[in-house]
Amino acid sequence: YPAEHQRMVDAHELLGKLYHHLLLNTKEGSDALKYLHSRGFSTEGIRKFKIGYSLPEWDMAVKYLSKRGFTEEELESAGLIIKRENDSGFFDRFRNRIMFPLFDEKGRIIAFSARAIEQSDSPKYLNTPETIIFNKSSLLYNYHGARSEIRRQGYAVLFEGFADVISADEADVKNGVAVMGTSLTNQHVQQLRRLTDTIIICFDSDQAGIEASNRAGSLLVDQGLEVKASMLPQGMDPDDYIRKHGAEKFRADVIGNALTWTAFKLHYYRFGKNLQNEGEKLKYIEEVMNELSKLNNPIERDLYIRQIADEFSLSLEVLENQQKQLVQAEE
Ligand code: GTP
Ligand code: MN
Ligand code: MN
Ligand code: MN
Ligand code: MN
Repeated sequence: YPAEHQRMVDAHELLGKLYHHLLLNTKEGSDALKYLHSRGFSTEGIRKFKIGYSLPEWDMAVKYLSKRGFTEEELESAGLIIKRENDSGFFDRFRNRIMFPLFDEKGRIIAFSARAIEQSDSPKYLNTPETIIFNKSSLLYNYHGARSEIRRQGYAVLFEGFADVISADEADVKNGVAVMGTSLTNQHVQQLRRLTDTIIICFDSDQAGIEASNRAGSLLVDQGLEVKASMLPQGMDPDDYIRKHGAEKFRADVIGNALTWTAFKLHYYRFGKNLQNEGEKLKYIEEVMNELSKLNNPIERDLYIRQIADEFSLSLEVLENQQKQLVQAEE
């Protein structure tokens, strides 16, 4: 790192240690710690991911880091403190929140994501803004921690939220990473590709999560990766699932039973459709036939075409002929 970057990292490392200490060892942090334990996070997990707590004070970080030789301008450009509008001086960006450090590829703290403890009008999560050391759309949460496990196991699990990564890690799924509330970008894909060519997408099972799975998976498939997608019960996220059904069931039924990309797409096209309705049924068949025409494996294609013929009592011959035309159009 250039000197300016290194100082920003140093400030984050110092503050991250303080937050972590406040959470684990002080009376001020005890409610935050109780909240994390009540959600099911273990002390071991809290230590591993260096989770912390920021006090409900306006100038804790300002004072703590100023005393250690950082200028207010430096801390402002690191995103840790904010300049007051009318008044002079600065105040802390993160107050009374659970602090999740974000690590770079070498495991150094370069930003924070801060969670509100109770529901309020303020956003659930508050992130460090873009800085010279933190680019939200290229960071994969836990890339550093998961790297060797991704290589060892031959695939990565992609989650929607970093809370899911931590829960999964505690459930012994240690090859998980998450984007930071953004869409999956080409930069993310390039980083993953350095470690593996197989990704299991395990996003939240709500409308937003399913749409995001489709977008992320399509990008990965287009970039030549092999993609699977997990299906959780409606309305759940991986963290919820692990709390409710346990680690073993998560590994076996969710990760172990992830759908192939084509099977996911067949489910995806069903969402929001009433297949009793002729028009919607025809639309569904058209979408599926288009999807199947992209497959390189003729056996896989044949398998799904037979399924469609069976399910909708259609002539296999008609479907096969139409598929031939679609495939020719693809080529
Ligand atoms: P928990 O409610 O703590 O279990 O979080 P979650 O991981 O289930 O979060 P959710 O599914 O709501 O969102 C997924 C990801 O989107 C989070 O990990 C965040 O990165 C991001 N996100 C969610 N809410 C906010 C928000 O209010 N502000 C910002 N900036 N990001 C958010
Ligand atoms: Mn979500
Ligand atoms: Mn949500
Ligand atoms: Mn979620
Ligand atoms: Mn959640």
